[in-house]
Amino acid sequence: MRDVAVIGIGCTTFGEKWESSFRDLFVEAGALALEDAQLAGEKIDAMYVGNMSAGRFVEQEHIGALIADYAGLATHHIPSTRVEAACASGGLAFRQAVIAVASGMEDIVVAAGVEKMTDVEPGASTDTLTGAADREWEGFVGATFPGLYAMIANDYMHRYPLTREQLAQVAVKNHFNGARNPIAQFQQEISVDTVLKSTLVADPLRLFDCSPITDGAAAVIVAPFERAREFTDTPIKVLASAQASDTITLHDRRDISTLDATVIAGKRALKIARCIHKDIDLVEVHDCFSIAEICAIEDLGFCKKGEAGKLTSDGITALNGDLPVNTSGGLKACGHPVGATGIKQVYEIVQQLRGEADRRQIDGAEIGMTHNVGGTGATVAVHIFGRI
Ligand code: COA
Repeated sequence: MRDVAVIGIGCTTFGEKWESSFRDLFVEAGALALEDAQLAGEKIDAMYVGNMSAGRFVEQEHIGALIADYAGLATHHIPSTRVEAACASGGLAFRQAVIAVASGMEDIVVAAGVEKMTDVEPGASTDTLTGAADREWEGFVGATFPGLYAMIANDYMHRYPLTREQLAQVAVKNHFNGARNPIAQFQQEISVDTVLKSTLVADPLRLFDCSPITDGAAAVIVAPFERAREFTDTPIKVLASAQASDTITLHDRRDISTLDATVIAGKRALKIARCIHKDIDLVEVHDCFSIAEICAIEDLGFCKKGEAGKLTSDGITALNGDLPVNTSGGLKACGHPVGATGIKQVYEIVQQLRGEADRRQIDGAEIGMTHNVGGTGATVAVHIFGRI
């Protein structure tokens, strides 16, 4: 297998983007990534595009072909493939691009993610997202994603010492980071009080415990590591790509507040990268709800079960802490255009490892990790990156 590097990155701003269509979003992110790699579109050998549900959000299917066409590449006849794994669509699209280059099948490959979620009514977006759970066992009986993660939060808080204030501090930290990220949907700092006084969505989760509904796209370009310096002075090496699955329903899980797919994918990634936890300088985790960040930190093995609340309240996961988590603002503040999130996580880590993260830069960051979850943990992708 060949070593793989990220040679170019691009991302739209995230938010309610009434002025941009689904295809505009992709074209903008792709053009930024090409410009970053100083690469002409004709040099691209293949594309993988993460997208959860354009069919329901914008009534458009056949996304691989659409995107190749609007990127001006249809007449080059490159293979262009949509990848769908709910909120992990972007992470899996990235993994497919890495596999294509590592195997020697392709050289220059775009991994992208795009979602336009705000063109439908709130009830319709909630229902579409519910398709990432088990429709027959969960969706049909009224379970929504906030509802499912609320069950995880209640179980967790019953068994482990996590206070409501500590849970709120996840959102406070992520809004602090988002306020330093020019692409973030929410760029305002908040207090614990803001979270505790916000509308109750699904007990105990409140508005500010939830990621929002977001439009956005991100794209990265990967190439063989040995060719990377043709395109960039700062290639970022992909040290590991790992993926794991679990039952789609929560009720079939061994333990509903431990995401076993995260545990397994995290271990696999560390083994492939030949790293230990102390080597990781920062991590972008899948905080679709505040409780998800708490579980992710523990399930990835950065601390024992029951300790992530204290880690958060002690400031260990803050920008200036020993283990900065979600420097982009995470899904909570940066936003969560579901198919694009896994690629935006790569975009953030690459910016940090290149030293280009400006007011949220982690000094001397050399190794970073991304963690992208589909549904309540039925699909997980973990990647590790290194500055060489
Ligand atoms: N955090 C902070 N503020 C939020 C927010 C969030 N998650 N979601 C919306 N807002 C703000 C809006 O900006 C708006 O503010 P304004 O009045 O100042 O303009 C206000 O709250 C109302 O927005 P609205 O769009 O009407 O919210 P809503 O009640 O329709 O939706 C949620 C709120 C939490 C239900 C929705 O964001 C949601 O479903 N989130 C979860 C998404 C999800 O499940 N993703 C998949 C995870 S696996």
